[in-house]
Amino acid sequence: MGQVTALRTAKNKALSTEPLSTLERLPSAREDIVKAKLVIAMVGLPARGKSTMARKLGRTLELDGVRVEVFNNGKLRRQIAPGEDSSEAGFFAPDNQDGLHLREDIARRNIEAAQAFLAGDGQVAILDATNITRERRRKIMSAFAPLPLCFIECLNADEEALTANLERKAELPEFRGLTREQALESFTRRIANYEQIYEPLDDEPNRILVDSFDSCILQEHISEVLPYYDRIRDIITTRVVRNLFLVRHGETVYNTENRIGGDSGLTARGQEQAEALAEHFATVRIPIIFTSNHRRTLQTARPIAARQTPCSIIALPEFNEIYAGVCEHLTYEEVRQKMPEVARERGPNKYRYVYPEGEGYATMAERVSRGLKKVFYLNNYDENIMIVGHRAVNRMILSRFLSRQEEEIPYIYMPQDRYYHIRIDPHKRSFEMVPYRSAPATWVGW
Ligand code: F6P
Repeated sequence: MGQVTALRTAKNKALSTEPLSTLERLPSAREDIVKAKLVIAMVGLPARGKSTMARKLGRTLELDGVRVEVFNNGKLRRQIAPGEDSSEAGFFAPDNQDGLHLREDIARRNIEAAQAFLAGDGQVAILDATNITRERRRKIMSAFAPLPLCFIECLNADEEALTANLERKAELPEFRGLTREQALESFTRRIANYEQIYEPLDDEPNRILVDSFDSCILQEHISEVLPYYDRIRDIITTRVVRNLFLVRHGETVYNTENRIGGDSGLTARGQEQAEALAEHFATVRIPIIFTSNHRRTLQTARPIAARQTPCSIIALPEFNEIYAGVCEHLTYEEVRQKMPEVARERGPNKYRYVYPEGEGYATMAERVSRGLKKVFYLNNYDENIMIVGHRAVNRMILSRFLSRQEEEIPYIYMPQDRYYHIRIDPHKRSFEMVPYRSAPATWVGW
């Protein structure tokens, strides 16, 4: 990978501004580039996806064989100043001198730890903190000069995703003593405090502006050959799925009657399936379970969450089952009898067909992909993600990862006694259908 990166970097240079003499020197300097050191400093307000991005960069570079470490100021703060004092909004107020000193001290400690790491055999140090003042960034630049340094600023303009992220943050252990509302209020005030001193990136020599919800680069300004740079761009813009468990809800009353849509609850068998799933995943760390707003997915997720400590359930309307309009609550047989035209038209063109006053697979595509963006934005790049969804919605989710012809998608097998285990990184992809009753979940980690 390193060599390829070096060569591609050279190629990019050829396309940009460097004189040919630099290019000619590059191949012989390839080894230096491969072994080169780099500092990445995250920038952005709280809850903008910085840590998720830092972890994703760190983990993926590590898979490439790069020695990388993430230095997270929040984590260090919680270690050296646990308790309410350092988590309440007032701690982050610009005029709170004690808070300011402690935060600068934490930043200094992490800078020193990163310097020590790079002075040894460390190759990439990622400073994961808000770093939102020019003054802080100047300190970072002078601490690491002359090593190459790149700032990555994370933005998120999607209000809904931001709200969902705040709600997730409100459940963090540091807000344990507060009600959900108090925690939300405290975190919102913390952000407001940071907003008062926020100075976006402007004249730093190497800087990238990222939309962390859409996983895309909005702006980049790079003024020197940065090691690993092409790889970093790839990682920022690629969706990496470490372990996605795609589960269909347990059996419902409507399932036993072959009825479409609705919001029926689990049967005793469905409840038992949920318990079996909970048992199966008991030894696998699942910090968040994403569901739809329908009862059947929530009822399936609850026993699984109850076996995890802690685990949040985030219900996303984007994962609601296909809305069958005038056919909601009918059985497939009733549709055939009462609305033969629906059955006739849907059969040969199931993907494109839209239920009268309802949805079709094709018209669900946009909302499902928006739901997935939320999942990737909210999951904090955890090792394991679980989605408990529905037959049609799970087919659409799976089709975002599998390359399938659209006419095949509405027929993807989506049983209730197995789940899909999906793993995707830039090097390999795997999809496995796993029965969950037989044994606890196991897999070979990457
Ligand atoms: O039967 C359960 C169900 O989730 C329905 O609510 C939904 O309309 C259907 O499956 C989707 O499957 P298909 O597109 O094959 O009818």
